[in-house]
Amino acid sequence: MMTLNRVGVYTSGGDAPGMNACIRAAVRRALSEGLEVIGIRRGYAGMINGDFVEMDRQSVSNILQKGGTILKSARSTEFRQKEGRAQAAERLNAAGIDALIGIGGDGTFQGATRLHDEHGIAVVGCPGTIDNDLFGTDETIGFDSALNTALESIDRIRDTADAHNRLFLIEVMGRDTGFIALECGIGGGAELVLVPEMLTDVDAIKERILSLMSSQSRSSIVVVAEGDELGGAHHIAEALRQDGAFDDIDLRVTVLGHVQRGGSPTARDRVLASRLGSAAVDALLKGHTCVMVGLVHGDVELTPLRNAWGRRKDIDRDLLQLTELLS
Ligand code: F6P
Repeated sequence: MMTLNRVGVYTSGGDAPGMNACIRAAVRRALSEGLEVIGIRRGYAGMINGDFVEMDRQSVSNILQKGGTILKSARSTEFRQKEGRAQAAERLNAAGIDALIGIGGDGTFQGATRLHDEHGIAVVGCPGTIDNDLFGTDETIGFDSALNTALESIDRIRDTADAHNRLFLIEVMGRDTGFIALECGIGGGAELVLVPEMLTDVDAIKERILSLMSSQSRSSIVVVAEGDELGGAHHIAEALRQDGAFDDIDLRVTVLGHVQRGGSPTARDRVLASRLGSAAVDALLKGHTCVMVGLVHGDVELTPLRNAWGRRKDIDRDLLQLTELLS
């Protein structure tokens, strides 16, 4: 069994609403178990540079409801090199850090897995990304908040689309997955949802939109995942316009972008983050390492870290069908 006195906590990769709630839970649970907690600032970049700060109960006060991450985040190219990871391991050992709690997405967990494999650093991951693309958890911290932010924007665009009988292509984030797009599409009543998990057939889309818009002479919303194989909403708009069939349609593109990453976490994300932050400490205390804590059918479960990023989590095909049935 490993010695566990001092735990390092860090956030890495794209920030997600609820990361602060997760930091708070991990810090407070660890302190209540008599452990010392070190905050590692700016993810792996800070780990390499020894950007460490001691955390107490007070240091995580009043952060539960805040977006972003008080520990800051970064995407470190140095850490992708073996030398960078060796330097990070040296810094951790020198600071007497026995184990890590890493909050982030697949890039964060790939890095953590390598740190564990190459240097024997104990690590537990908490899934923190708006993309919801990690295997081993029904939802990732930040997904619900991003979804609600995107949905609010879609509702607003629907108003103006309806006023002008316009077709809007709305691009949402999700990297190479369509989780955000799919649920936004259902929640926002989109006429079509385009996700990377399904082939985008431009002719079929054309036909569908033209028939919807001519028969009912109304507005249409198409939600496009940024990772769609045609390269996002602007490229799809270009493809639709190419043969002149859309000349009479007032087509606009809105890319929601980073607005989806910010803001206060929803109640659901706060609860999820609090549960998983605490569960990460619990996992370390029980001697688990190189695992991710996730929620599976409502219960906390551990998944090997390498599966969390290595295995593909598939979108729910029934939900995809539902968008078509209901449009
Ligand atoms: O992984 C979260 C995410 O917001 C993705 O949805 C998006 O593709 C990416 O990060 C954007 O990254 P960056 O903020 O580094 O441009």
